[in-house]
Amino acid sequence: MSTKTGSYKTYQSHARHTGSNPAAHIPDPRLLILPQEILKDARVLDIGCNNGAVTGHLLLRHGVKSVVGVDVDEELVMKSQSHVKFMLSRVRPCSDPPPGREEWYPVSSVRKHGPRIPPAEARERGRFWCGDYVTATDPAASGGCPGYDVALALSVVKWVHLARGDSGLRSFFEKVAADLRPHGHFVLEPQGWESYARAVGKNPELRGVFEGIRVRPGEGMEALVAECGFGLVRRWGVGTGEGLKREILLFRRLGDGEGGDGLDDV
Ligand SMILES: C[S@@+](CC[C@H](N)C(=O)[O-])C[C@H]1O[C@@H](n2cnc3c(N)ncnc32)[C@H](O)[C@@H]1O
Repeated sequence: MSTKTGSYKTYQSHARHTGSNPAAHIPDPRLLILPQEILKDARVLDIGCNNGAVTGHLLLRHGVKSVVGVDVDEELVMKSQSHVKFMLSRVRPCSDPPPGREEWYPVSSVRKHGPRIPPAEARERGRFWCGDYVTATDPAASGGCPGYDVALALSVVKWVHLARGDSGLRSFFEKVAADLRPHGHFVLEPQGWESYARAVGKNPELRGVFEGIRVRPGEGMEALVAECGFGLVRRWGVGTGEGLKREILLFRRLGDGEGGDGLDDV
């Protein structure tokens, strides 16, 4: 793993990631707590997609229209492709899927006979690209606002923050705002300050930027997100029995002239 970008190769215990992880059928609690209506038929951006687990779950369980995953680590982008292919290989080939469709083909069948070729429609729905989200451009984008309905930044902003400081974090949130359609949703799972200190302990190269950081996770970071054009809709804390390890914040991109106070829950 890179101690500079958090490019864990075994994140979420996706055991010694081989692209055929049997734990792929376990739902992600962070996605389960979200209001499912914001995901239904949505075009989603998964920033820091790692091994594609979240991307795959979005496609298989949450009824999204499409997902684009981006990660700075090329090896992880390739793993994401194989992981999603594996997950799709277990799906019952059916246009009107009943519950449990994602567990239709046993892991052993996929391992023995190899992944089924995902249907073309599914391949179009899940796509990945490699790059630093703050500075790079999606090679498949034709310019202009991609107009995503939902953007996810799960356990990734610490790495952007430690790489680029407060101004880089602002650029990150501004880019998310630019990539979303007006009123689109932004799901943020910030890492805690103690987690920053741990990262610096593992990689002293990060110390210089770390010591210059003034915007801390919590109120400071939320204020910065608001300055970039978002209003807070809802938050979920840890210890509420929902299986979350970190707080999850749901923001909505504000329309022109719209204030961020008193946004309705979804
Ligand atoms: C800790 S993992 C989180 C994975 C996933 N989002 C989740 O929560 O399950 C952080 C991921 O962000 C990626 N990453 C870090 N900085 C990035 C950047 N600037 N642009 C895109 N991806 C980045 C890392 O390579 C790593 O895969």
